[in-house]
Amino acid sequence: MSPTGLPVILLVPGAFGTPEGFGPLLPYLSEADYVTHPGPYPSCNPVDPATTTCEKDIAFLRDNVLLPLLEQQKDVVVLAHSYGGVVAGGAVKNLDKQTREAEGHATGVVGLIYIAGNITLENESLSQAVGGSHPPFIKIDKPSKGLAVIEPAMEVLYSDCDPALGSEFAKHMNPHSLLAFATPATAPGWADKAFDGRRAYIRTLKDCCNPSWLQDSWLEKSKVQWDVIDFETGHMPFVSQPKALAATIVRLANAFKTS
Ligand SMILES: *[C@@H]1O[C@H](CO)[C@@H](O)[C@H](O)[C@H]1NC(C)=O
Ligand SMILES: *[C@@H]1O[C@H](CO)[C@@H](O)[C@H](O)[C@H]1NC(C)=O
Repeated sequence: MSPTGLPVILLVPGAFGTPEGFGPLLPYLSEADYVTHPGPYPSCNPVDPATTTCEKDIAFLRDNVLLPLLEQQKDVVVLAHSYGGVVAGGAVKNLDKQTREAEGHATGVVGLIYIAGNITLENESLSQAVGGSHPPFIKIDKPSKGLAVIEPAMEVLYSDCDPALGSEFAKHMNPHSLLAFATPATAPGWADKAFDGRRAYIRTLKDCCNPSWLQDSWLEKSKVQWDVIDFETGHMPFVSQPKALAATIVRLANAFKTS
């Protein structure tokens, strides 16, 4: 537990993004006494894109970020955006509180909050989950072989944000490894019964990157129950509506803590 007894909120960014991209949420979360922790993974801006598989992202987040946090006697709520949902889903497998307690540990992952999260099943890659080909705004082999960027980022990702802040947003965008999208994910933890009542999905209704019908199809495919909360935003509600989103996150995290 943190000094306040509240779980730590782990910030798992989408592809092309960094944990710092969640920045606008932080003042509102800390106002509610929540502490956050960055949840990066290696396929973003990789040294060598030829080795950064989805499975390695999952293993990294689990072994280098989640387990160390849990071992510091902290319960964790995972906040995952977009492709971060694929990575976090695999990483939380068997780290739920029930499984951890059965193994003699005091702490665990107490809740999952997906924001327009991409959902993959066991052994399914992100490319397969989106229908086999990349959407046209994912520019392949740019800026170099094995990497991709999103263009135009402002229109696709920040469609409802202040255009004057475009250069500020660009600082949080990085090239991403294509291999991470093409390689299969491991079995997702969200599928487990221990997360019943502990899964929330922020559906972004005006999303130009992950259209809401695609989000619906992923939710359906997951075959488990999510608490779905609609936001009338584009793909980055933590930038366009940070205050309202933070209030939702606090409400959900409080409920996960006490349930
Ligand atoms: C998730 O899937 C959508 C839908 O095709 C895709 O456009 C988007 O890039 C994916 N999210 C990422 C890469 O984080
Ligand atoms: C995923 O792949 C592994 C290894 O090939 C296999 O053992 C497992 O049964 C597969 N799972 C599903 C759900 O297809």
